[in-house]
Amino acid sequence: YSTQKIPLLTYIKKNKNPSNKTILTSLTLTAAMATSVMADNATATIHVGQGQQKIYKEIYGQFAEHLGSCIYGGLWVGENSQIPNINGYRKDVFDALKALQIPVLRWPGGCFADEYHWMDGIGPKENRPKMQNNNWGGTIEDNSFGTHEFLNLCEMLGCEPYISGNVGSGTVEELAKWVEYMTSDGDTPMAKLRRQNGREKAWKIKFLGVGNESWGCGGNMRPEYYADLYRRYSVYCREYDGTKLYKIASGASDYDYNWTKVLMNNVGHRMNGVSLHYYTVTGWSGSKGSAIKFNDDDYYWTMGKCLEIEDVINKHAAIMDQKDPKKQIGLLVDEWGTWWDEEPGTIAGHLYQQNSMRDAFVAALSLNVFHRHTDRVRMANIAQVVNVLQSMILTDQKGTGHMVLTPTYHVFEMYKGFQEATYLPMDFKCDSITVRGDKRAKEGRKIAMLNTSAAKQTDGSIIISLANISLDKAQKIDINLDGFTGKTVTGRILTCKNITDYNDFEKPETVKPADFKNAKLKKNVLTAEIPAKSIVVLNIK
Ligand code: AHR
Repeated sequence: YSTQKIPLLTYIKKNKNPSNKTILTSLTLTAAMATSVMADNATATIHVGQGQQKIYKEIYGQFAEHLGSCIYGGLWVGENSQIPNINGYRKDVFDALKALQIPVLRWPGGCFADEYHWMDGIGPKENRPKMQNNNWGGTIEDNSFGTHEFLNLCEMLGCEPYISGNVGSGTVEELAKWVEYMTSDGDTPMAKLRRQNGREKAWKIKFLGVGNESWGCGGNMRPEYYADLYRRYSVYCREYDGTKLYKIASGASDYDYNWTKVLMNNVGHRMNGVSLHYYTVTGWSGSKGSAIKFNDDDYYWTMGKCLEIEDVINKHAAIMDQKDPKKQIGLLVDEWGTWWDEEPGTIAGHLYQQNSMRDAFVAALSLNVFHRHTDRVRMANIAQVVNVLQSMILTDQKGTGHMVLTPTYHVFEMYKGFQEATYLPMDFKCDSITVRGDKRAKEGRKIAMLNTSAAKQTDGSIIISLANISLDKAQKIDINLDGFTGKTVTGRILTCKNITDYNDFEKPETVKPADFKNAKLKKNVLTAEIPAKSIVVLNIK
């Protein structure tokens, strides 16, 4: 076997004068990793007859903020652009998103939402005022992408819009009128204004966020104060002409359990859902690390940190259970994903980062976690869809018209079959590994080397995802499909030469899915061999 290179020397170099304790911890981690790479066969039993919970398609949700080149240059180039477009929407990006079957798209922020005044983004484009994006690099934008452009895009993509309303710097009246503008079909002032702007019928809106990160960029509020504001704002978000709004309160950041507790106590069932933001990030100040230059130790740390979301969900859900044992209030992880340093040479504050096979693992592992919690997790929106943070798509910032699909895109595409499938419980055994911790997890985190999820699709077939986190060991797994006799198994694999591999404009297909042939089915037992650093999705019929 080989020991993975996490090495004491790296630790000593990083911590110039490591204490004995640091050295000891490092030695323990290195030893733990060295033994864990001697992986035995993994075994699993999937209880095909015991599926109860639907995996909401909204767990595959996306997020588009007026931030950097997510909207301008990403989704939208305008009708007069040299870059091929459909009524101003960038065609290559549109086609790729259509193929992804995205179920829901959150907009316009993020922090931007609490400074966005929707009336500036309607009517003739030449009359729309410019604005400074104070949250994200002070960029001046011309409001050419507004309510009509967003909602029409959702219709074209066939996805639900999720509107994030301004509570931080807006008014109750402003948000109430926005809801009327979008959803009223009657003879109302805002419906008339919409018609004047060229849209006869109201759009179909379900998901409405009342503020974003109200504890921070959304107003720096205390939870008690925000809870009162939520109660007030939500009253005036009326339901016009058969609209049924799903109102979402601005929820906690990661480990802020008190926020959830106060909202459950003071808002309770007045909200349909409450959000949660969890980023796989090293810390909120200083270097977050490069998206593509990292070592094996950084990679394993990332896996541990991303999987910690399960513990965070469990703790928020337990608080929710106390006031809502019937689980009527959804937990919406409406921002999640990796957050690395901005790419050198890009505009500060635009959060443009590359996306490697490590990011693909974060996507696969996080989605597997969400599947397990569909009794509470009603939606999740990876941040963000194009050109920002852990995106699906990167477009060339030099305006050459090039685009690449990221490894994260491929995971979402390979996992499509999980949308609306029935989650299947599984008993599972495999080796585990202790990875480096951080301030929160001082002793390191213990993670299973193989990460998996299974579901029954509406056509009766079984879909299984298997992510082998190990960088150097293949994992053999025997899966007993309890109560299911399959005839055929097909599969696809996303893998790489190096975990740092990524796609760029010169080499757009370094990481891409391929057919997977290493799975065999004998009656109700499936055997597969998953190569190191690979994500496999199998389909059994
Ligand atoms: O996704 C980027 C930013 O992260 C969002 O605007 C904000 O809500 C969060 O802090």
